[in-house]
Amino acid sequence: MAFAILAQQPAWALALAAVGLIVATRAAVLLALWFYAAFLRPGKPLRARYGAWAVVTGATDGIGRAIALELAAAGLGVVLVGRNPDKLAKVAAEVRARRPGAETRTFVIDFAADGLAENVAALAESVRDLDVGVLVNNAGLCYPYARYFHEVDEKLARDLIALNVEQVTRLTHALMPGMVRRKRGAVVNIGSGAATILPSDPLYTVYAATKAYVDQFSRSLYVEYKNMGIDVQCQAPMYVATKMASIRNATLLAPSPETYARASVRYIGYEPRCTPHWAHGVVWYLFSIVPEPLVDRYLLGMSLFIREKGRAKDARKKAL
Ligand SMILES: NC(=O)c1ccc[n+]([C@@H]2O[C@H](COP(=O)([O-])OP(=O)(O)OC[C@H]3O[C@@H](n4cnc5c(N)ncnc54)[C@H](OP(=O)(O)O)[C@@H]3O)[C@@H](O)[C@H]2O)c1
Repeated sequence: MAFAILAQQPAWALALAAVGLIVATRAAVLLALWFYAAFLRPGKPLRARYGAWAVVTGATDGIGRAIALELAAAGLGVVLVGRNPDKLAKVAAEVRARRPGAETRTFVIDFAADGLAENVAALAESVRDLDVGVLVNNAGLCYPYARYFHEVDEKLARDLIALNVEQVTRLTHALMPGMVRRKRGAVVNIGSGAATILPSDPLYTVYAATKAYVDQFSRSLYVEYKNMGIDVQCQAPMYVATKMASIRNATLLAPSPETYARASVRYIGYEPRCTPHWAHGVVWYLFSIVPEPLVDRYLLGMSLFIREKGRAKDARKKAL
């Protein structure tokens, strides 16, 4: 019966229906795969698969601190890297409280200070005796608030490149040979939706451009090292409620660092380019179907609003 009805249809209608069926099936499969990855897929057994230790940069606050706690809970020893010794000691104590017996080390380094090459070499030397299986390049810097490119001063531009580009490259370069030797490892680079998800990030241009470097750096390393047992990944979060984002209270679209970290650690070793928190995945999809000029206009408006608020706050501080 159904075949008889189909046989009566003109060829163009059948062709159109076939294309529609293929498109709908593809969308349904992608949705099912995303749902599985976002909510059901178990994390990899990190210690057994990659090694006993994780190195986490920017581990004293926000996303890095939460990821370090999560990795320790998953059974890894953690090397906490940050610029503030007191905050590092506090996070180390939190790690041990979360998992008694967890091994921790701390390393003090200011990635924006002069002598980055020597400082990173010293960090790499300090972990040479460890089976470092997971490297989380998380430390990063953003603008204090939105501003035009010509308003970005020399120091801010320099620090953005030092933190978001140079130290990520140097530390990965320093720890990769050990992973190659052991034939296993995971490198997790925290990029940003500003580069991977959004078509533009006006008034945050240098920040977004540094994160575009992280995206392509990770994607190419993923291909280079996959056959050597090393999984390189760029995670591109949208907003997370941290001091960098100036968001105090978590919301659906700006999860707490702890919520983000649970998703983040569960994604390690899977897709080379991803946004682990499910709500950010929905935002990624929505931005992908809206025409870019509309998104650009919306983002510019939002950044101009943030710039005005930031300038007003600066003016109030100066007046005191
Ligand atoms: N939060 C978001 O909405 C968001 C969105 C997309 C991407 N990201 C990315 O996620 C990563 C973490 O951001 P976050 O939101 O967790 O930021 P955060 O709360 O400000 O934490 C940043 C971490 O990096 C450390 N750090 C900053 N400057 C440093 C320096 N010069 N030397 C050494 N360590 C330094 C900080 O140390 P102190 O504790 O001493 O300050 C802190 O541990 C960054 O790469 C960021 O670009 C964040």
